[in-house]
Amino acid sequence: MAQPRVNSPEPLLGATLPHIAYGGDYNPEQWPEGVWQEDARLMQEAGVNLVSLGIFSWSRLEPAEGEFEFAWFDRVMDLLHDAGVRVDLATATASPPPWLSHRHPEMLPVLADGVKLWPGARQHYCPSSPAYRTAARGLVEAMATRYGKHPALAMWHVGNEFGCHVPACWCDVSAEAFRAWLRDRYGSIERLNEGWGTDFWSQRYSAFEEILPPRRTPTWPNPTQQLDFMRFSSDTLLECHEGERAILTRITPDIPVTTNFMSFFKPLDYWKWAEREDIVSNDSYPDPSDPRSAMRAAMAGDLMRSLGGGRPWILMEQTTNRVNWRDVNVAKAPGQMRLWSYQAIARGADGVMFFQWRQSRAGAEKHHSAMVPHGPVDASPSWKEVVRLGHELGRLDSVCGSQSRADVAVLLDWDSWWALELPSKPSNRVRQVDQIETYYQPLFDRNVTVDFARPDHDLSRYRLVLVPNLYLVSDEAAGGIVRFVESGGTLVMSFFSGIVDQAEHIRLGGYPKPFIDLLGVRVMDFHPLTIDQEVELEFNDGKRARGELWSEHIELAGAEAVARFSSSELAGRPAITRHAAGSGRAYYLGTRPDARTMERLLQMACADAGVEPAAEMPQGVEAVRRQGRGRSFLFVLNHREIEVDVPLSVAGQNLVDGSDLRPGLMRLPPRAVAVIREGW
Ligand code: GAL
Repeated sequence: MAQPRVNSPEPLLGATLPHIAYGGDYNPEQWPEGVWQEDARLMQEAGVNLVSLGIFSWSRLEPAEGEFEFAWFDRVMDLLHDAGVRVDLATATASPPPWLSHRHPEMLPVLADGVKLWPGARQHYCPSSPAYRTAARGLVEAMATRYGKHPALAMWHVGNEFGCHVPACWCDVSAEAFRAWLRDRYGSIERLNEGWGTDFWSQRYSAFEEILPPRRTPTWPNPTQQLDFMRFSSDTLLECHEGERAILTRITPDIPVTTNFMSFFKPLDYWKWAEREDIVSNDSYPDPSDPRSAMRAAMAGDLMRSLGGGRPWILMEQTTNRVNWRDVNVAKAPGQMRLWSYQAIARGADGVMFFQWRQSRAGAEKHHSAMVPHGPVDASPSWKEVVRLGHELGRLDSVCGSQSRADVAVLLDWDSWWALELPSKPSNRVRQVDQIETYYQPLFDRNVTVDFARPDHDLSRYRLVLVPNLYLVSDEAAGGIVRFVESGGTLVMSFFSGIVDQAEHIRLGGYPKPFIDLLGVRVMDFHPLTIDQEVELEFNDGKRARGELWSEHIELAGAEAVARFSSSELAGRPAITRHAAGSGRAYYLGTRPDARTMERLLQMACADAGVEPAAEMPQGVEAVRRQGRGRSFLFVLNHREIEVDVPLSVAGQNLVDGSDLRPGLMRLPPRAVAVIREGW
């Protein structure tokens, strides 16, 4: 694999685009050329400065094998350049043309039960397929050669949403590639047998040739086989990405490369992927009908910022209004698109882009909204919001490149996520993202800025580390967590952490083996709760609370009980504990407390750790700070449908409308936003 290149200095795209990027996926092949002129004019009207071009253009760019038709695409590139719009140029490999699968039917993906996925939609390729990879590389080589020096080119967009629709393939070609990956990982069949625990159910292999991907079996396939297959599938798609990237970096070493992530997307280990991106970018489609959407979108933004090591990222796709892929596609309320766009910037984005520029009139996504709607454009409220936002973002150049600082990290590890959600557990109800949200929500509500970190990262820059669940943990990561606490950090860890090693074998010697001394507890047995069950809790100060999802039999081994179970057969036993270790402290949660209790516990932990919110705000008002080059920007977002008065502690200028602000109360209308340059 090629080494990652040094990432662009601030701003994100350097002198190429020293502004907040604004635009969307542009699919001109769906329209007669006359419409392109209109597109360019409207892009200028809306302040668009970047479009993602060519994402699904393969069958028009290469209508037959090795025969390229670039003339029409040249005209689009030139037109955009003349209009002052830069291009995030796709490698166009996400949807193979019909001729490719017709000639090479073996490139089609196959599911675990043998069902083949046919062409006719998109992303119908087996990631291990040599035919697909060769054809994709041919196209990328041709694209990079043709457009590498085009003045409109700002960045490369490899594939599109890798793993969307087809995150893995179980075909014979994939089986061979899986075996090669396993040979590499284990070196010998003996070591694989040991790693997979194949003496269970007579699964011992005598040669690599006998091994298959975890296809549909009578009951659960070997868990380590499943875990390795998830690792393999993430790595295999990354190989596709790397194959394209190697060509791009050879031909255009100075053009940054991205591929668009999909928030908390389980199939791909985004920590590994992000190391291969010059710019992290994300697609985010919060559901307007879900009251937790603002929290979820913030959480995705924090993940993207963290994946890029704190550097700005790009919101590559969102929607102006409705999507088309939910059962009921609820419309965004007036101002919601604008508010959520600012939220992404608050969370570190230096670009706000949409799927897509012009709403399609044919195809599967014609009912998906776009920047330019079907109807009369000028009369459209959503177009007006698009234009307004584009103009406002033009005032935010000084924000580009600034970053957020968090004192709190939530640990997230894809290996552990995969292992946790394999079947055949004490409870299949424990889900990684649910667990994270239980912690994230109260911090979001209080405007405490949070990073995500991989468990084996250096945690010393944080004051508070949260472990919503870390079922699988390496020795190295466990050691790092212990060192973090011993050197003064505060930790909050939930149940069912530290249970297995990287082979998904139980860590013997009592649960949770690597953390027994750190937490000062021993877990004797798990008592998971059904959907209708709850347990009662009683805190030392007499306050009562409830727990759900999980309970367990905890014996104290040095910790103090902060709360005890007060119902069920566990009544009187510890439920939540606190333990001083070294110069730090570790809280342990043997259940999932109700939301208010979670809020109280995290406030205690924040107080212990000396963690402060970005700003004190009324309920429903989000505040995040970005800083850089001696400047400080406070983003204040009113997610409520009523006007609120928010307290400001320093004077500043609201970059959104240019108004000067004094310390005191600032009035924010419903869904309004202020970007305050502090100390102005
Ligand atoms: C994304 C995809 C886009 C479009 C969009 C619709 O997953 O990258 O091409 O399909 O969803 O919401």
